[in-house]
Amino acid sequence: MLGRVVHKSRINVLRYFCAKKAPPPGGGDGGSKTASEVDKAKSEAASKAAAAMPSDKVAAAAAKGADKAAKGADKAAKCAEKPAKADGQKQASGKSAAESACKDKDKGKGATSPPAQKKKMEPRIKTFEIYRWKPGEKPKMQTYNLDLNECGMMVLDALIKIKNEKDQTLTFRRSCREGICGSCSMNIGGINTLACICRIDGNLSAPLRIYPLPHMYVIRDLVPDMSQFYEQYRIIQPWLQRRNEKKETKGCAQYLQHPDDRLHLDGLVECILCACCQTSCPSYWWNSDRYLGPAVLMQAYRWIIDSRDDVTEKRLRQLVDPYKLYRCHTILNCTNTCPKNLNPARAIIKLKQLLAGYKKKTEPKLETAKLFK
Ligand code: SF4
Ligand code: SF4
Ligand code: FES
Repeated sequence: MLGRVVHKSRINVLRYFCAKKAPPPGGGDGGSKTASEVDKAKSEAASKAAAAMPSDKVAAAAAKGADKAAKGADKAAKCAEKPAKADGQKQASGKSAAESACKDKDKGKGATSPPAQKKKMEPRIKTFEIYRWKPGEKPKMQTYNLDLNECGMMVLDALIKIKNEKDQTLTFRRSCREGICGSCSMNIGGINTLACICRIDGNLSAPLRIYPLPHMYVIRDLVPDMSQFYEQYRIIQPWLQRRNEKKETKGCAQYLQHPDDRLHLDGLVECILCACCQTSCPSYWWNSDRYLGPAVLMQAYRWIIDSRDDVTEKRLRQLVDPYKLYRCHTILNCTNTCPKNLNPARAIIKLKQLLAGYKKKTEPKLETAKLFK
C-alpha cells in the first residue's frame, strides 16, 4: 500500500515535469515558476498520501515517501532551472555560471606546469647470437644488437623484436608467451628452457647465445622437429583406459576421483611437454630411437598411478625393455632443466620401483566403477 502511494505521488510529479514546457529563451521567470509548482506537487503528494492511509503509522511513512519524491522533484527542478537561469543571466551580464566555471577550469589547465622532460636513458646494447639454418644452406650464428631499454625483459620479447624490426626471416615457435603451451622451448645460454619465461641476462659484455633444442633434427633456425618425441608419447597411450569401458555408458556418470587420489597426480599433470628435459638427457641423446626419455616416462607414470585407470599391469609390461626405461642412469639433467620445476627423474625412479615390485599402486579411495551401476 505504502509503495503504491509513493509510486502514485512520483507519477504525479513526473507528469508535472513532462507537461511543463521548456522555459522561454529570454524568460527569467522560468525558475520561480518551477519552484512554486514544485511546492504545489509537494503538498499534493503529502495530502494524497495522508488521505489514502488509514493508519497513522502508515500515513506518516507515506508522507515521508512523498517528501522523498518531492525532494527528487526539487533536484529535477534545480536541473531545469540551470539553463533558464543561465540564459537569463547571459542576457543580463553576458556571463553564465557555467561559462565562469569553464573559464576557471581553463585557468587551472593553463596554470599547470609543463610535463617534466623524459629523462634520457643510457642505451643498454645487448648482443644476441642466434643459430640460423635453412635447408640447402650452411648453419651459422647471426648477431643482432638490441637496446634493452626498448625491449621487453624476456628472451621471447627480444626474438619478437628482432623478427619485427630487424630480420623477418628469423624463425621460431611461440604461442602463449606465459609458459603454458611449451612451444618456445630452446637452448638459451646453454640451458634448455622456455624463451617466454627466461629473463634476458643483463650482463651487456657477454652475448646471449640461442640455439634450438639440442640433439634434435632442425626444420629451420630455432624450430626443431618434434615428430619423434610425439611418436614416443603416443606409444604410452596417454589417455584414461577402463576395464569395463563398454558397460560404462558415456555421459551416465563422471569418472570421479577422491581428492587424496588426485594428490598423487600433483607434479605430473603440470608437464607441458616442452621437451626441455627430454633433450637435456645424455641417455636420450645417444639412444633417442629406443629410450623413451624423461618427459614421456613421467607421463607414463602419470597414467599408471591414476586411480581411475584400470590397465596398470599392461602399461608396466610395456616398459619392460632394456632401453625404454632402463637407459635412465639418474644423472638428473632433466630435473635440473625443467622450466616448470617438475621432477621427471623422481617419476622414473618410482616407475622402476613399481616394476621391481618394491612399491605397489595404492587402492583407490573412491570406486569409480560403482558410479555407473
Ligand atoms: S635422470 Fe634419467 S632421464 Fe633424467 S637426465 Fe638423467 S638419465 Fe636422463
Ligand atoms: S617435465 Fe618439464 S621439461 Fe620435461 S617436458 Fe615436462 S615441462 Fe617440459
Ligand atoms: S610461448 Fe608458450 S610456453 Fe613459451
